[in-house]
Amino acid sequence: MAPCLNHFNLLQLQTISFVYMLITVSSLSLDEECSTLFQFKQSIIMQDDAVCDARWLQKFNSWKPTSSSSDTGFDCCSWDGVVCSKEDKYGQVISLDLSESFLCGHINSSSTLFNLVNLQRLNLAMNNFFESEIPPQIGRLKQLRTLNLSDSGFTGEIPSEISQLTQLSSLDMSGNPLKLQSHGLHLVQNLTRLEELHLSGVDINSSVPRFLANFSSLSSIRLFGCSLRDEFPVAIFELPQLKILSLGSNTNLIGSFPEFRNNSLLKYVDVALTSFFGIVPESISNLNHLLYLRLTGCSFSGPIPGSLSNLTRLTSLRLAGNEFTGFVPSLVSLLELDYLELSGNKFEKGPFPNWIGKMTKLSKLYLTGTNMYGEIPPFL
Ligand SMILES: *[C@@H]1O[C@H](CO)[C@@H](O)[C@H](O)[C@H]1NC(C)=O
Ligand SMILES: *[C@@H]1O[C@H](CO)[C@@H](O)[C@H](O)[C@H]1NC(C)=O
Ligand SMILES: *[C@@H]1O[C@H](CO)[C@@H](O)[C@H](O)[C@H]1NC(C)=O
Ligand SMILES: *[C@@H]1O[C@H](CO)[C@@H](O)[C@H](O)[C@H]1NC(C)=O
Ligand SMILES: *[C@@H]1O[C@H](CO)[C@@H](O)[C@H](O)[C@H]1NC(C)=O
Ligand SMILES: *[C@@H]1O[C@H](CO)[C@@H](O)[C@H](O)[C@H]1NC(C)=O
Ligand SMILES: *[C@@H]1O[C@H](CO)[C@@H](O)[C@H](O)[C@H]1NC(C)=O
Repeated sequence: MAPCLNHFNLLQLQTISFVYMLITVSSLSLDEECSTLFQFKQSIIMQDDAVCDARWLQKFNSWKPTSSSSDTGFDCCSWDGVVCSKEDKYGQVISLDLSESFLCGHINSSSTLFNLVNLQRLNLAMNNFFESEIPPQIGRLKQLRTLNLSDSGFTGEIPSEISQLTQLSSLDMSGNPLKLQSHGLHLVQNLTRLEELHLSGVDINSSVPRFLANFSSLSSIRLFGCSLRDEFPVAIFELPQLKILSLGSNTNLIGSFPEFRNNSLLKYVDVALTSFFGIVPESISNLNHLLYLRLTGCSFSGPIPGSLSNLTRLTSLRLAGNEFTGFVPSLVSLLELDYLELSGNKFEKGPFPNWIGKMTKLSKLYLTGTNMYGEIPPFL
């Protein structure tokens, strides 16, 4: 019996070590991650280019081999922008923040950056990657919680591998001449943990999918200037955590307002230059947190609801270029209002509203074509 048992134990041992090997080869040691980062630095700084800002190397000042002569490795956990899970040899690089660093150069599929599979945060925002395409290898970074590639000069189609980053709570690719045309927003279908979805300026050219209204953690949606079209799912306004909704400059996006609930956290709503239409409901006064409302250049109609005067935190109210009728209600209670725009509507002819003189914080006022008459009071 004994030899047989031994044989079994040996087999088990082999299996265990094989599994162990699989785990270790799929993930780099901290030393290997550090040299991977160093190679990334080298690949960027080798691409010396006359158009780069003089400050483009500053971020990398601390990215050096360790000075101690007995040690030829790198202690990358102390480098500017790098965070490790633990500062010992069993740690991992979990966060890389190279935002606003004037980095300048191409990134491509052979960039070693995509070997850092333990990264939970990657921020490359506000650099200049010279119209690089986002390599599909980005899909290897499956631990990512936040990915910020905004204003960094990326171009081309957003790779479908982004759909595999199911841990993401924040995705920001705004301000790049990117496209999302083959999948549209369906690409984020499985990113159900998203809190921030910022794709402003990305050419999406499709409709806004209804499933977004099921992403209960969403607090900020920025899709300004994305060529969105068709009907905007009204249920998105009811997302319990939603604070920021920026949909401006999507001419073919059709929508209208729901009855607003009083537990809404919305503080920023911009649907300017879209095909939103219909009335602004009295229930808008339920948006107790609202600071910014921009409806400029849509097709809203009906009267401006008097209940707007309940939104005492409002700092900016932009209603120009719609089809509002009736009289402008007194907004004198909006003491924080800094920007008021009412021009180009279909209001009744009426006297100049003298309550405007009492709005001490007002610095921008647009009233042309509002059918108001009388002398402009001297306080303006
Ligand atoms: C990626 O970029 C590096 C550095 O610019 C270059 O040497 C390499 O040939 C490029 N690889 C591919 C696959 O384009
Ligand atoms: C992405 O980074 C930029 C630059 O640091 C910052 O302004 C922006 O708010 C970040 N995006 C998100 C979603 O945090
Ligand atoms: C989302 O997950 C489902 C089920 O795993 C899969 O069938 C679908 O293709 C995924 N969608 C995307 C856009 O990756
Ligand atoms: C947007 O999509 C429509 C329909 O698929 C297509 O006809 C149109 O050419 C696209 N526009 C752009 C700018 O890609
Ligand atoms: C949203 O979630 C509900 C409940 O889980 C489900 O029945 C519905 O199909 C989902 N809607 C979309 C568009 O995914
Ligand atoms: C909000 O609505 C709920 C239920 O409709 C009501 O009980 C509550 O008093 C309202 N709160 C405010 C501040 O209006
Ligand atoms: C909101 O405004 C309306 C009309 O101006 C007023 O009747 C109502 O009492 C106000 N509601 C709150 C909660 O202040």
